[in-house]
Amino acid sequence: METILITGGMGFIGSHTCVELMEAGYSPIIVDDLSNSSIKVLDGIEAITKKRVPFYQLDVADFEALAQVFAQHTIDAVIHFAGFKAVGESKEKPLHYYCNNLNSTMSLLKCMDRFGVGRLVFSSSATVYDSMHHVLLTEETERWCTNPYGWTKFMSEQIISDHVATRPDASAVLLRYFNPVGAHESGLIGEAPNGVPQNLMPFVTQVAVGMRDKLSVFGGDYDTPDGSGVRDYIHVTDLARGHVAALAYAKEHPGCQAVNLGTGRGVSVLELVTTFERVNGVAIPYEITARRPGDAPMYYAETRRAEELLHWRAERSLEDMCRSAYHWQRKSMGLWEDPNERTR
Ligand SMILES: NC(=O)c1ccc[n+]([C@@H]2O[C@H](COP(=O)([O-])OP(=O)(O)OC[C@H]3O[C@@H](n4cnc5c(N)ncnc54)[C@H](O)[C@@H]3O)[C@@H](O)[C@H]2O)c1
Repeated sequence: METILITGGMGFIGSHTCVELMEAGYSPIIVDDLSNSSIKVLDGIEAITKKRVPFYQLDVADFEALAQVFAQHTIDAVIHFAGFKAVGESKEKPLHYYCNNLNSTMSLLKCMDRFGVGRLVFSSSATVYDSMHHVLLTEETERWCTNPYGWTKFMSEQIISDHVATRPDASAVLLRYFNPVGAHESGLIGEAPNGVPQNLMPFVTQVAVGMRDKLSVFGGDYDTPDGSGVRDYIHVTDLARGHVAALAYAKEHPGCQAVNLGTGRGVSVLELVTTFERVNGVAIPYEITARRPGDAPMYYAETRRAEELLHWRAERSLEDMCRSAYHWQRKSMGLWEDPNERTR
C-alpha cells in the first residue's frame, strides 16, 4: 500500500481526492494549515471511509515542520494542493499569493529531494492559458495569465518542471483543472467558502437556501449562445479520480507532463442556473450585471491527453454536479436529517 502525502488535503478538492485515494487502496496523510478549511473535514472523510487519516496542521512553506512529517513516514508520492486560490483576492494582495503559493511549492520540492521522494502531482489550473484569445484549450495552447493567482500556477509549473529535469528518476504531472464543482454524493464533504463565494456554484447554492437574495451574472452580452460566459464545469469526484490516475501514470513515466482535467464541454452560466433549478426544484433569482474585468467569454478543455495518458475521462453530468452541490449545501446546514430524503 503506497503512502501519499496530500498538502492542502482539508480543502475542497484535496478532501475528495483523499476519499478516492483510500477507495483505490492508497494510504494518505494530510498536511494543511487550515487557512481555508476546517478541522471538521477530517470527520467527514472518516464518516465516508470509516478510517481516520493522519493529519498535521502546518504551513507547507515551513520547511522544518514539513521535514518532520517526511521523517516520520515513508512517503511514496505527493499531491500538492496547498495554496491560495481566489483570483480577485490575488489582485488585491499579490505578495500574499506569491509568497504562499511559491514558497510552499519550493519548500515541498526541497523536502521531497532531501527524503528521496520523486513523484509529484500538482494542482495547476486552466488560468495558465491565454483564454482571452483561445476557446478550445489544449495543453499546447499559448499560456498567459491575467492575475497574480494565475502567475503563481504558471511559475510553480516552471519551478517543478526545471527541478524534475535535473532528476532522471523523478516525475511530475501538472494537472490543469477547469471549473471544479459539486460535492461527494454522501453530502459529508464539499466546498465551504469563507465569506462571499468567489465561484459560481457555491453562490448558486447559497441563493438556493436563502442565504443570499440573488445571483449576479457578470455579463450578458458576450459572443456566446445565450450571452453569458461559458466554462467547463467538472464534478469534483471526477477530478479527484483524475489524481488517482495521475499518480499511477507518474509511477511509470519519469519527466514532467501537463494534463488538462475538464469535461471538454462548455456550459454557460445561464445553462447551469436553469439546470440547477430543474434538477433541484428550486428558483434561483438572478440579475445580469456588468462584465468582470479579466473574464474571458468562453473556454473549455481539450481532454484527449487525459484520456490517452491517464486513461481517465469525466463521467458525471451537469445534473449530477447541480444535485450534489445542493445536497451538500443543505446537509451542511442541517436542512436534511436523512441524506436520502430529498423533499424538494
Ligand atoms: N477550486 C478551483 O476552482 C480550482 C481550480 C484550479 C486549480 N485549483 C487549485 O487546486 C488546489 C486546491 O483547491 P481547492 O479548491 O481545494 O482550494 P481550498 O482552499 O479548498 O484548499 C486548499 C487548502 O490548502 C490549505 N493551504 C493553503 N495554503 C497552505 C499552506 N501554505 N500550507 C498548508 N496548507 C495550506 C488551505 O487551508 C486549504 O485547506 C489549489 O492549489 C487551487 O489553486 C483550484
